[in-house]
Amino acid sequence: MTETLDAWTTIDGDSEHYLGWRVERLRSLAERLLARAVPLLSVVPRAAAVETKLVLADVLRRDIEAIDLLRTRIHELGDGWEPAWTPPERPAGAALDLARATTGTEVLRRLADGAGELRRAVDAAGDLPAVLDEPTRDVLARVRLLLDQSVAAAARTTPAPEELDVVAAPADPARPMSQPPLPARDARFTLLDPGTPIKHPLAELAPAAQAGYVAQWLLISLEIPTIEFCCRAIQTYDFPFAFVRDMNRQLWDEVRHGQAFLQHSLAMDVPLGEAPATLQLWLATDVDQPELALAIHQRLGERIGIESAFSHVRLWRGLGDDRTAELFAVVAQDEIGHVAIGNRWVRHRSASEDVPRLDERARERRAEFSIASVPRGFEPEAYRRAGFTDEEIELIRLAYQDVQRAAA
Ligand SMILES: [Fe+2]
Ligand SMILES: [Fe+2]
Repeated sequence: MTETLDAWTTIDGDSEHYLGWRVERLRSLAERLLARAVPLLSVVPRAAAVETKLVLADVLRRDIEAIDLLRTRIHELGDGWEPAWTPPERPAGAALDLARATTGTEVLRRLADGAGELRRAVDAAGDLPAVLDEPTRDVLARVRLLLDQSVAAAARTTPAPEELDVVAAPADPARPMSQPPLPARDARFTLLDPGTPIKHPLAELAPAAQAGYVAQWLLISLEIPTIEFCCRAIQTYDFPFAFVRDMNRQLWDEVRHGQAFLQHSLAMDVPLGEAPATLQLWLATDVDQPELALAIHQRLGERIGIESAFSHVRLWRGLGDDRTAELFAVVAQDEIGHVAIGNRWVRHRSASEDVPRLDERARERRAEFSIASVPRGFEPEAYRRAGFTDEEIELIRLAYQDVQRAAA
């Protein structure tokens, strides 16, 4: 330490060199993290077993968080590094190995092997303490913690049954890190034909099994598809970095929801595979315009998710199941944030007079894939927080009125 301090005091006039050197180390660390985040963006949709998909998405969201921290610090230090999420023309090395792994276990093993090297890179970036300022040191400590948490989370995961622990082959062998045409589905679940309307067969179930079934239904039909939506959006939409940050924030929530619903359904003794799996959300949002996809998935779909979550809170509280009610209360608050993200970026891309037409196209697109668009409730306070205007809230109220009239 003393030696290093002495070295620092004698560099006089050469501090530029040291500043550049500091940015260089941060950038090289960020590039290494990016080299595993980019393949994971396509590996997550291609992983079949739900347990594997959730843990890989959990590693991915920590990597993106670490990249965000490093990028912010690099910018503060005067450099303009930007991560490139699109797959490289000629992928190589450990990143290519990740992209080509054929089982979730293999991906996790390769991640664990690379973690040691990444940790050494974090330590190397911080090995000249006198040159390192406090904020940079804090960032490095946080990056190290995120890496350690990923390793611990991967080790804690219940492994998926071996025969289901499959990662589908990349669609295009020449571009192994790009998004698949369809995400892989867990073979324990019956895959519904895209034309089949999705509904809960709740009435046919014994009351004790209902909460577990609903949790599993949400896991496989909504949380998992939303995780995949976030991965595809980060990799393919040409939006500013703030969008990646928003989508990653959502990825954190959806992984948490997925894990909570998985545990809840297992705790209620509902074996995996009771609820049907679907691909509709992926297909319906596979459109050229990002703002249309965001209108379909978030502005409309997750808004219905808010209504549905609040109605579940009331339902389970009424039935005396406070645990399930609490779970939905947390989900409802998170969903408000996700709709706000959708609204923010829809408005970023569209003039306000174009938004009603976008809504209409979103409803048409959902209908094509048998996904409902009618309100499941009316939550004006939540809509306001999610970024809807008074006029838009009034339209939702009128639509909900029609639903109630039709049901009466
Ligand atoms: Fe969710
Ligand atoms: Fe959500």
